[in-house]
Amino acid sequence: MKKNYYLTIMLLVFPFTLSAQNNSKFTFSNPDAPIEARVKDALSRMTLHEKIKILHAQSKFTSAGVPRLGIRQLNYGDGPHGVRAEVDWNSWNTAGWTNDSIVAFPSLTCLAATWNRDLSSRYGHAVSEEFAFRGKDILLGPGTTIARTPLNGRGFEYMGEDPYLAGEMALPYIIAAQKNGVACCLKHFALNNQETDRFSVNVNVGERALREIYLPAFKKCVQKGGLWTIMGSYNKWNNVYACQNDSLLNKILKQEWGFDGAVVSDWGGATDTWQVALGGLDIEMGTFTNGKTTDSSLGYNTYNLADPFETLIKEGKIPMSVLDDKVSRVLRTIFRTSMNKSKVVGSQCSEEHYATCLKIGEEGIVLLKNEKNILPLKKGTYRNILVVGDNAVRNMSEGGGSSELKTLKDVSPLEGLRAVYGDCVDFARGYYAGRPLYDNVEPLTADSLLFLKNEALEKAKKADLIIFIGGLNKNCRQDCENSDRMSYDLSYGQNDLIGELAKVQKNIIVVTYGGNAFATPWINSVKGMLHCWYLGSMSGEALANIISGKVCPSGKLPIIFAKRLSDYGFAHYGKRAYPGIDKQVYYDEGIFVGYRWFNTKGVKPQFPFGFGLSYTSFKYGKPTLSSKQISSDGTLTISLPVTNTGKVEGKEIVELFISDPVASEERPTKELKDFQKISLKPGETKNVCFTITPEHLQFWSTANHSFIVEPGIFKAYFCSNESDIRATAVFVVR
Ligand code: BGC
Repeated sequence: MKKNYYLTIMLLVFPFTLSAQNNSKFTFSNPDAPIEARVKDALSRMTLHEKIKILHAQSKFTSAGVPRLGIRQLNYGDGPHGVRAEVDWNSWNTAGWTNDSIVAFPSLTCLAATWNRDLSSRYGHAVSEEFAFRGKDILLGPGTTIARTPLNGRGFEYMGEDPYLAGEMALPYIIAAQKNGVACCLKHFALNNQETDRFSVNVNVGERALREIYLPAFKKCVQKGGLWTIMGSYNKWNNVYACQNDSLLNKILKQEWGFDGAVVSDWGGATDTWQVALGGLDIEMGTFTNGKTTDSSLGYNTYNLADPFETLIKEGKIPMSVLDDKVSRVLRTIFRTSMNKSKVVGSQCSEEHYATCLKIGEEGIVLLKNEKNILPLKKGTYRNILVVGDNAVRNMSEGGGSSELKTLKDVSPLEGLRAVYGDCVDFARGYYAGRPLYDNVEPLTADSLLFLKNEALEKAKKADLIIFIGGLNKNCRQDCENSDRMSYDLSYGQNDLIGELAKVQKNIIVVTYGGNAFATPWINSVKGMLHCWYLGSMSGEALANIISGKVCPSGKLPIIFAKRLSDYGFAHYGKRAYPGIDKQVYYDEGIFVGYRWFNTKGVKPQFPFGFGLSYTSFKYGKPTLSSKQISSDGTLTISLPVTNTGKVEGKEIVELFISDPVASEERPTKELKDFQKISLKPGETKNVCFTITPEHLQFWSTANHSFIVEPGIFKAYFCSNESDIRATAVFVVR
């Protein structure tokens, strides 16, 4: 009895004495000690082998800590739209858990289309809570790779074509997630603008395009977001793989930008021990060991940053300082995440997360056409609404590659519409897109496909309104990792089907899903069009709220929609510019990516960058400048009133573009430099104020190898979209 009594006391007291001891004895385990002191202390206690062991994977999605010292491992999870379902410790097979169903948040392109920084912060907060709850320390995302081509299979995981918008929209996500003790691992650094030949393509890009287009969003997240980890991409730059590229990782990222976190390889992106050791990589993941080797550590010891690196250190061929720098970065990451006392416990599938998901979806949907105000559809106006299209019933969280999600709840567009319009809604699939991951296999026979089409056309005759729900999906060669789209057109005969439906029924609204732009040859024969990206778990409800007018649409395009693929800058230069020849791709269009090409070369798009309609209208007033002149390192404020002149409450995104018409190097006609999203009641006016800083005026000088501001006359454009200039102001830079 007495023995048991003592045992109980010991069990209760022991953990406290141990942690008290830890606190006093080991700085690294004291959660209140400064991180740098913890790093220094831990480093001093580790053996050479322990140091090596924390630099590479120990399973598909973890890297080791130091169990002897009580230093925790790091748990990784894809990313970026929710926590991926658990896979086996040592293979890509799903682990078959029954408690890993989560909230799928809208795709990052949708988030970018909200142009709402607060929603980005809510996204980062909510999604990181789900990661924390699942025991993850590193969220593999978000992505700020620039949309160079609409064929990129991973376009939906990124934030559009403009470096300013992409950086601004990634920043709050990162800050909010890291505040919860979950590291963001920003993807994919750098120049991962296509999936075709992603493991081998070498990118040839001019210094100016690199600095002005492809790097700024990453730089902003590092410098203003305090980014903790970053993922090296698969492709090469200057013929060296990005994951082991000294110029990119050591010189630009670490030395120039001051990144103090860890560079994580994309899964299998590290190839060469010397380059990996000296080229700036800190954690090697996913190298193609299949776990079937006979050695005890299942092959992970054969990674470049494992035994081979240890040998080079032991032989004195690589200095200990190189190893210690990597180890310090990994330890810093551990103390910031898995051993951070402020890391949240998190939660999964909470009401709040669904609400955030819904809100982002609603604000990201873009109204592209609304002839005669066919939208919103007031309940009761149409008795026979026919919904046609595979995407009306498809789970679009499945497929797409590593961002695939297993959802607990997924409201389909059809369910969302039925919840509002009830029995008035009939459905015909019209076309069938097969199952995710099938590489263009049409699982239905030609007869069955014809049946689907005829059924839709027959039903269309009896309907008063058609809502066609199609677009892209997450199948292979659509919006999916590891391959690009094969065509700018929508697949599965959708263009023909929409055309034929429009002949039968003039009241037709097209709703599209997808992370990329596509051709819309039927646009003149339909009355309305909404583009939805991917909306995650609350997809149908978000769509129904916009269609019914419960929510006024306020999303705007983060990518231009060209009329045809050949209108894009890269397309002008043929195969060498995309997808490349002999695994060499040349970014010949330079800085003229997306709208920069269209506005400078005078090509008319189908839908301009930054375009999106509303159920209300806005009037922009006259801008007021704090001064008409500014020194090249000074600042200037410009404000202007914006009024809601319509009948419903709505949100307007005021886009500030700036031009520098006379410069020593050719500059785009105008470039996005800031934006603000404001909410206005009918008749209400608000003042929108922008501060112009040197960052808004600069360009990369190839002669100076730096950003410069050249004196001269600059023009500010206040736009509702890139092509719709509502007000201008001129100022002089001295
Ligand atoms: C993808 C990454 C992903 C990783 C782990 C890679 O193939 O490119 O984005 O995070 O796999 O799933």
